[in-house]
Order: sequence, then structure tokens, then C-alpha cells
Amino acid sequence: MPSTPRYEQARPEDLDAVVGLHLCNLPWTLNSRAGRTQVRGLYESLLADPAASVVVARLDGAIVASAAGTSDYSRTSQRAAQRSRARLLRGVFTTSPFVTVPLMYDAWRTHRLIERIDGPYAFLLTWFTDSAARGQGVGRGVLATLVRQISAPGRPLVVDVSDSAVDGHAAYRALGFVQVARAPRTDILQLDDTSPLTERT
Ligand SMILES: CC(C)(COP(=O)(O)OP(=O)(O)OC[C@H]1O[C@@H](n2cnc3c(N)ncnc32)[C@H](O)[C@@H]1OP(=O)(O)O)[C@@H](O)C(=O)NCCC(=O)NCCS
Repeated sequence: MPSTPRYEQARPEDLDAVVGLHLCNLPWTLNSRAGRTQVRGLYESLLADPAASVVVARLDGAIVASAAGTSDYSRTSQRAAQRSRARLLRGVFTTSPFVTVPLMYDAWRTHRLIERIDGPYAFLLTWFTDSAARGQGVGRGVLATLVRQISAPGRPLVVDVSDSAVDGHAAYRALGFVQVARAPRTDILQLDDTSPLTERT
């Protein structure tokens, strides 16, 4: 009989698996030592942040998907920025600046655009399923669990999706996210009220 995934909050001992899932989806130039340190730093600060949540899908004991987000983007982004500033600078100087500087510029422009949204809002930061487990509903399950944890009535739930995340675009739209703005090479999407993810079972 096929096993059923369990969706639960990530623990500090899950960090290696969560970081590993994330790195599989980074362009090879950013999957460098500095990139790895930066990704680990992001999850360390999320696990320590009361506004943030990291959810994993466990199948037969192995982590096959993860999703992370925050119920309050401005608070979490400030903390994450403070913690990762030094790592980010190290990343620029140890990876090719021809790759990292344009990416950082795009990220900065996207951030500025997102910050124009009025009032507090929830934000999805990462969402990954192991390539061997895709297309079986695990991504939907892990995202639905996260959305329940970080959403609040009347508070928009936003995500920025790079044009290169082709599967991510299709999956977000299938799950009821709609485009609200366009940044460089990036769509800014918001969860629609009619999304199947907000249905309570
Ligand atoms: C996006 C991702 C997390 C989806 O994970 P998954 O476990 O395959 O997702 P599911 O099987 O639960 O599918 C969720 C929904 O998205 C749809 N979907 C998923 N991948 C799709 C694709 N490539 N094209 C069209 N629809 C897709 C599914 O049909 C499903 O909709 P439904 O529930 O209405 O049937 C996974 O493809 C992934 O890790 N991609 C690389 C990283 C990425 O792009 N992350 C998101 C941006 S950061």
C-alpha cells in the first residue's frame, strides 16, 4: 500500500535535508560554498523567527518537500536581511559578480515593488518538491499546511516567482494564485480568495 506523507513543522535537525532540497533548484553558479552558506543562514533565521514557518513533507521518514513563509513579510525580511548581509557580500565576491550582481539587482527591484503593498501581508519564501516525488500532490499538501499557518483574515498572501521557475508558475496558478504586479523577470502573485488552498477540510 502506498505511504501517505505527513506534513509538519521543520525541526533544527531537518536543516540539512531542507537546505539540500533548496540547493538542487539553484542555478549551478549559485550552488557554491557561499550560496550554500547563504541558504542555510536563511533557514536558520526562519526557524528562529516567530513570524515565520518552515513546513516539511515526510514520506517513510525522508523529507520529500518543503515550503517556507512568514505571516509578516516586513518583520521577517528585516531580520533575514540583518542576519544575511555579511553572507550576501561574501557570496558576491566568491561567485562571479557577472551572475550575482544582476540577480541581486532584480531581487532588490522586486523587494521595492512588494514593499509598496499597503499594510502587513504574509509572504511565501520557498517551495520545493524532490524531483522524484513531483506530480503526486505532495507540493500541494506542504503548501496548504504552510498557508494555514501563515495566513490571517484580510491579510494578503503574496509570492514572487521568477520567469525561470516554469513548474512553479504553473503550480501556483493551478492552486489559485493570480498576478498582481510585474517586476524584472518576475511575477508577483497573490492568493485569491477562491483558492482551493484556503478550503478548510
Ligand atoms: C512547483 C513544485 C513545488 C510543485 O510540486 P509538486 O509536488 O509536483 O506539486 P503537486 O503534485 O502537489 O501539484 C500541485 C498543483 O500544481 C499543478 N502542477 C504542478 N506542477 C505543474 C506543472 N509543471 N504544470 C502544470 N501544473 C502543475 C498540479 O496539477 C496540482 O494542481 P491540482 O492540485 O489542481 O491538480 C515542484 O514542481 C518544484 O519543486 N519545482 C521546482 C521549484 C519551483 O519552481 N518552486 C516554486 C517556485 S520557488
